[in-house]
Amino acid sequence: MHDINEQLERKRAAARQGGGAKRIAAQHAKGKLTARERLELLFDEGTFEEWDMFVEHRCVDFGMADNKVPGDGVVIGYGMINGRLAFAFSQDFTVFGGALSEAHAEKICKVMDQAMKVGAPVIGLNDSGGARIQEGVASLGGYADVFQRNVMASGVIPQISMIMGPCAGGAVYSPSMTDFIFMVKDSSYMFVTGPEVVKTVTHEEVTAEELGGATTHTSKSGVADLALDNDVEALLMLRRFFNYLPLNNREKPPVRPSGDAADRLDLSLDTLVPDNANKPYDIKELIVKVVDDGDFFELQPDYAANIVIGFGRMGGQTVGVVANNPLVLAGCLDIKSSIKAARFVRFCDAFNIPVVTFVDVPGFMPGTAQEYGGIIKHGAKLLYAYAECTVPKITVITRKAYGGAYDVMASKHLRGDVNFAWPNAEIAVMGAKGAVEIIFREDKGDPAKLAAREAEYKARFANPFVAGARGFIDDVIQPHETRKRICRSLTMLRDKKLENPWRKHGNIPL
Ligand code: HXC
Repeated sequence: MHDINEQLERKRAAARQGGGAKRIAAQHAKGKLTARERLELLFDEGTFEEWDMFVEHRCVDFGMADNKVPGDGVVIGYGMINGRLAFAFSQDFTVFGGALSEAHAEKICKVMDQAMKVGAPVIGLNDSGGARIQEGVASLGGYADVFQRNVMASGVIPQISMIMGPCAGGAVYSPSMTDFIFMVKDSSYMFVTGPEVVKTVTHEEVTAEELGGATTHTSKSGVADLALDNDVEALLMLRRFFNYLPLNNREKPPVRPSGDAADRLDLSLDTLVPDNANKPYDIKELIVKVVDDGDFFELQPDYAANIVIGFGRMGGQTVGVVANNPLVLAGCLDIKSSIKAARFVRFCDAFNIPVVTFVDVPGFMPGTAQEYGGIIKHGAKLLYAYAECTVPKITVITRKAYGGAYDVMASKHLRGDVNFAWPNAEIAVMGAKGAVEIIFREDKGDPAKLAAREAEYKARFANPFVAGARGFIDDVIQPHETRKRICRSLTMLRDKKLENPWRKHGNIPL
């Protein structure tokens, strides 16, 4: 008995040592924490239960038979984040560069399977040199086993990836299928082919950071949601983010009551929108002023900033916020912003999170770049996402809602539950100037006449009452009462039930 206990302690100590003191020091020297240090920060103190500490790889090629580290380069288990259950795997770069072997993949699959059975999120802390080169196809098979689980878990439990080191080649496809990707600046990167291959094939010279670093993926590609400064900040942010989410698709998100009264008015909102319809303003000011305690968790702030997405709470309930931002590209919808918002709306819908939409949109972005890029198909993604969405949908038009974009942005016609407009809202096919230039083309040479036509069109259509008269707008509300009206609507909608017709799956324009 004594011997066995000693053996156990020896094995545990060996596993905790990972790749050894030298490699741990090298990890620290890069400003990175080890796999276990990361888990300690992620979970509530003392709650993490580790599994499979004694798993070893089964490879015998290239001298690997005598080169085994207990745990095989990934730490898996479950624990509590602010008192709520989550599963995690954390790749250990000090062990074979965190490379994925068959056994390593089996461990990841084990937590994913268990998380699916009990209905709790999976968090992946990625730090890996990719496929374990010594294992060949066994490793590739392991990746595919993880991919399959990512897809089966999609829309069932939230999946979050934190990229904290290399993530290259086919390995990127597991995080890419998870719901959110956070990256650590300067120490993480993601790419399908690295700088060397890029140079050989396309003759481009690019560093790993430029090609696939956190800044690249949060500003250029839109692959990642947030770039964080270092491991500690990233993990603390992840804990905060976790609080917004339900554990699975059968649960509602947690309610966190706050001291911020649901009927709080904000008079400063009455002057948020400038009198001049062409003047921009920052829609984030409105968001921060209406959510509980001004606490808004924005995602992808530096990508397609003409649309804002993120989580907040209203009356304690998690809400997903989508808002056109007139400050960037006049808030118009383009390819990137449509895709960004569509994926977010679908996440909210899958996980019972009501969607609050703030609309100030002059239309879809014109131009060859957009048309050749497929704005028709990509814009339809957002339309499709809103239309299939069955969670509570509350929409507030703050100023412009023109053309097809009016329809798309959670309009009444797409089963918006509560649709409000501010008094100065303009709901029309297009702006007055563009409209009269088309329908009164014969007056083109007469600026005075054209101006009169424009004023006439404005008076007739540039208001919320034409839509109100048809019931497309449920009420015209004062800006200062926006929070109160949304919170009331959310309470009214708490037990909303709406189901789409049975089908294997829809065919969203991908
Ligand atoms: C086995 C690996 C490894 C790998 C790194 N190591 N990658 N072992 N398989 N894929 C080992 C190294 O031998 C080294 O061992 C230790 O990890 C640390 O690696 P270093 O090279 O010293 O670290 P660093 O300089 O920081 O460079 C990290 C790296 C580099 C950029 C990740 O190691 C690298 O380029 N590795 C190969 C990456 C790769 O080509 N992977 C396959 C990609 S294709 P010692 O014992 O010296 O500490 C792929 C396909 C997936 O992943 C397909 C899915 C469908």
